[in-house]
Amino acid sequence: MKVLLIILSFSIATLVESEKVFKSVPVVVKTYENDTVLLPCYIDESEAKLRVRWYKGDTLLGDSMDAHHLMPLRTRMHANFSLQIDGLTAQDTSEYTCEVVRPEPWGPIRQTHSIEVQYSPTVKTIPEDGFVEVRKGEYVDIGCEANGTPKPIIDWRKNGDPMALLEHRSRIRFRAQHRLLAGVYECVAFNGVGDPVTAAIRVIIHDAPVVSTDRSFVHTAIGLRAVLSAKLEFAVPPARTTWLRDGKPIKLDNRVVMIVTENIHQLIFRSVRKSDLGNYTFRAENKLGMADVLFKLTGVPNIASFKVDTALNKATTTSYTLIWEVDSYFTIIEYNLWLRPYYGKLSASEPDSFTTEPPSNLWRKITVPGDSSDGPIHSATYTVRGLSPSTVYEAIVTSRNRFGWSKPSATLHFATEPGVGKTLPSFDYTDITPTLEEPQEIYNLTKAQIFERLDMPNRKARDFLNLTTILFVIGAYLFFS
Ligand SMILES: *[C@@H]1O[C@H](CO)[C@@H](O)[C@H](O)[C@H]1NC(C)=O
Ligand SMILES: *[C@@H]1O[C@H](CO)[C@@H](O)[C@H](O)[C@H]1NC(C)=O
Ligand SMILES: *[C@@H]1O[C@H](CO)[C@@H](O)[C@H](O)[C@H]1NC(C)=O
Ligand SMILES: *[C@@H]1O[C@H](CO)[C@@H](O)[C@H](O)[C@H]1NC(C)=O
Repeated sequence: MKVLLIILSFSIATLVESEKVFKSVPVVVKTYENDTVLLPCYIDESEAKLRVRWYKGDTLLGDSMDAHHLMPLRTRMHANFSLQIDGLTAQDTSEYTCEVVRPEPWGPIRQTHSIEVQYSPTVKTIPEDGFVEVRKGEYVDIGCEANGTPKPIIDWRKNGDPMALLEHRSRIRFRAQHRLLAGVYECVAFNGVGDPVTAAIRVIIHDAPVVSTDRSFVHTAIGLRAVLSAKLEFAVPPARTTWLRDGKPIKLDNRVVMIVTENIHQLIFRSVRKSDLGNYTFRAENKLGMADVLFKLTGVPNIASFKVDTALNKATTTSYTLIWEVDSYFTIIEYNLWLRPYYGKLSASEPDSFTTEPPSNLWRKITVPGDSSDGPIHSATYTVRGLSPSTVYEAIVTSRNRFGWSKPSATLHFATEPGVGKTLPSFDYTDITPTLEEPQEIYNLTKAQIFERLDMPNRKARDFLNLTTILFVIGAYLFFS
């Protein structure tokens, strides 16, 4: 116990002693490449004839009593014991200790300074060639090794947009669940010295091809030029493409030609013959899969569209005038106008019943005669009578020419005028102007449903949703790993 106490008091004495002896204070020098630094080791004048040693970490640099000890390049000790280092490099970042050796009975005392040579970041990608190629479903493991003083922080960008990562990380690992995760991943290293430094890694994901079209239902007529146009949205590795009819490759000649412009593949009929009308397939295939887009080259009318025009859409309490237009290269034989109450009064037999639920299956079909014009634009006006006052209706129209029935139009909503002396319980129907909605499936409308629709906007929305989910999963993965 006594011994311990003695040692303790001795070390306190040494500490107090060294504070008294050193006239310099410990310093942290933050400096830059090529600079010169002078580290002090000033001692009380009375302490002459002292021996001073300088250390870099644990390595002896120089000794005031040993002239033969060669100091490293760019390093020297002055007569006043200051240590000077010129032309600083990154390797000079370290702690430097000045040790004063005094005659017995005093022990040596030390003072430690440090130098931090600040320099801008450098980055090296992982993998070094900056290129990663995986199959869909495999893992992508990329990173950036950044050097610099102070230690750089790393942010990531994908295809130029910042990635919402929860922390600064040098490594990113994710599953290539979707082809849209491919792209250029860039790390940005920044430490406040100089400009941020970036390095890029290109991630390529192999998957089955993806094809699409803006128009799968192509309306035409004999003798006209017709174009089927498919877009090869994705093909890594490259896809073999073919145009098929009834499962067989199409015979090309002067009249039926194929044109490829970037990723747009077109099948062009310079002058359509009756035998050309039918179903076509554009197919793209690589070793990971196959994608088809189906086309119908047809003479049936295009989808009709209702016109909304307050001057022409005349409404009374029991009637409403509808106007629509349709493209057809042939005479329209007839239209089918489908009608049902949307909300409001359901029937004259129950004058006080109102509902806000759309009725499920009350479509009423009205056959409207066509016109004798050859088109291509046909317009029709029809006044629906026998409607109930203060009622919102919805209407759909289909058109028929010699090739058959068109697909159904978008739904039009319209309202009849309020009846005499009647008040409306919930809202004023006269405020409702006709509004158009996207085409919808019609139940119990067999003839108009000959063709499957390719709902491209919905498909895109679905892709986007999937991607959002994937990004979320990655985010969660990064967070928990
Ligand atoms: C330091 O000196 C070297 C050689 O002269 C030069 O290449 C380098 O750019 C200098 N660094 C700075 C930060 O000035
Ligand atoms: C110690 O010596 C160096 C070189 O002569 C000089 O630059 C420095 O100012 C001196 N420091 C003191 C405290 O005298
Ligand atoms: C075209 O395809 C549809 C189904 O998508 C089919 O019902 C129809 O019969 C086909 N038409 C021809 C001419 O093969
Ligand atoms: C279609 O409507 C008719 C009468 O409007 C009905 O008899 C028939 O069962 C309906 N068909 C379907 C598939 O709902």
